[in-house]
Amino acid sequence: MTEHPGRAGFLQSYHICAAVEPWQAAGAAALRNRVFVQEQGLFTTHDRDAIDDVAMPLVAVAEGAAGEPVVAGTVRIHQAAPGIWWGSRLAVAPEWRRVGKLGSELIRLAVGIAHARGAVEFHAHVQRQNVVLFRRLHWSVTAEVDLHGRPHAHMLADLAHYPAVDDPARGWRITAPGAA
Ligand SMILES: CC(C)(COP(=O)(O)OP(=O)(O)OC[C@H]1O[C@@H](n2cnc3c(N)ncnc32)[C@H](O)[C@@H]1OP(=O)(O)O)[C@@H](O)C(=O)NCCC(=O)NCCS
Repeated sequence: MTEHPGRAGFLQSYHICAAVEPWQAAGAAALRNRVFVQEQGLFTTHDRDAIDDVAMPLVAVAEGAAGEPVVAGTVRIHQAAPGIWWGSRLAVAPEWRRVGKLGSELIRLAVGIAHARGAVEFHAHVQRQNVVLFRRLHWSVTAEVDLHGRPHAHMLADLAHYPAVDDPARGWRITAPGAA
């Protein structure tokens, strides 16, 4: 397993945006593998599927003191049918969890982009331990489902709480006072 250096030496600001650069997409793919294959064991070799052919990957990028960027969080979104959007593969690297609200900010970007593109519904299958987080962010449970052998909740976002995001590549920057 790859060793990761942790957060030491990183600045307290993050860029939340669409993964438009190849290094951002590669970082998102590597992070998904680290979280869903190595950490959670949801998949045995890789977590890619057909949705990756059509999805837009989003990232939370942390910057080291010398300016070197690292993908610390990711999620992907896609439109499954006109107006019907889904988010999936939300992951924040273990060393960046609960320090900068990166997960919450990625959800805000994901739903905001879909909102700007005419979403009328935004869905996700949420692992049970994360339902509290999504409820706080104005999502509601519509059903309980088993996926990859684990309990999940099918949840819907309340779009009224997610202002449209017109420029995914620009996204926004946040400062996280809790970061190292
Ligand atoms: C779920 C996940 C993306 C959250 O990322 P994160 O950056 O830690 O989330 P945030 O910092 O935005 O969390 C916001 C709030 O929820 C809380 N929170 C986050 N995950 C939580 C959990 N599993 N249980 C309880 N509270 C949680 C945080 O403490 C924070 O609360 P606060 O505002 O009171 O401080 C991250 O834990 C992760 O990658 N987990 C492994 C992969 C996974 O489960 N993916 C989701 C599939 S549905």
